[in-house]
Amino acid sequence: MKPVYWALPAVVSVLVAAGCATGPRQMEAVTAEDLNIIKASFRAQGQAGLDRLDQDDAQKHCSNPPTVTIAKELAARIEKANFAAIKYPADGNLMGDWRAGERIAQTGVGMQFSDNPKTPSGGNCYACHQVSKEEISFGTIGPSLYNYGKLRGGASPEMQRYTYGRIYNPQAFTACSNMPRFGHNGILTEQQIRDVTALLLDPNSPVNQ
Ligand code: HEC
Repeated sequence: MKPVYWALPAVVSVLVAAGCATGPRQMEAVTAEDLNIIKASFRAQGQAGLDRLDQDDAQKHCSNPPTVTIAKELAARIEKANFAAIKYPADGNLMGDWRAGERIAQTGVGMQFSDNPKTPSGGNCYACHQVSKEEISFGTIGPSLYNYGKLRGGASPEMQRYTYGRIYNPQAFTACSNMPRFGHNGILTEQQIRDVTALLLDPNSPVNQ
């Protein structure tokens, strides 16, 4: 696995770091001055534009130290807004090809200035999740997804919808999730999200063996 599109998550953690760099400022929000310093420290190159420093509401709330353990109402508001923004495929077909999904889960290429924007990005799922039994190298920031479909009663329409939406935009379910918003931020295409959904739910995929 190769490292990925960390440009944006890296920036988010820079914002958190800027907010709690020294003792007395520990619980302060990120100031306009902090943002200017951060903006001055980056330059646009290729597809990695400075617009990546522009945070939407969810990112702003999640970057502010006082709201890292955010209030329940705020979390509910972030989840509701992100849930409403999930775009499901118009044809209603949420299951793709698990073999393609496995390749997407294994690949972390994409979104960096040095990547070709015309080449599809990977999902890098293994960086944070155990997915299949065969792959012995994986991260543990996220829960193991091994046997995901089997444990959830298979590929019912509800599970397909939940899984597709979860991958499309994790913040629709967990405010301030560490998981990338694959559909929402245009990291993966509709077809790629279908493919990883099939990887998790198809009874023939290595996930459910
Ligand atoms: C940077 C780490 C990271 C990456 C990369 C990542 N995830 Fe996650 N994922 C998480 C975390 C953390 C959770 C726990 C819940 C949350 O915070 O959203 C999670 C939760 C999930 C869940 C919900 C599990 C459940 O029990 O309902 C699914 C499904 C999922 N991830 C699928 C994927 C897929 C598929 C990919 C690759 C396309 C992926 N994740 C990539 C961190 C990640």
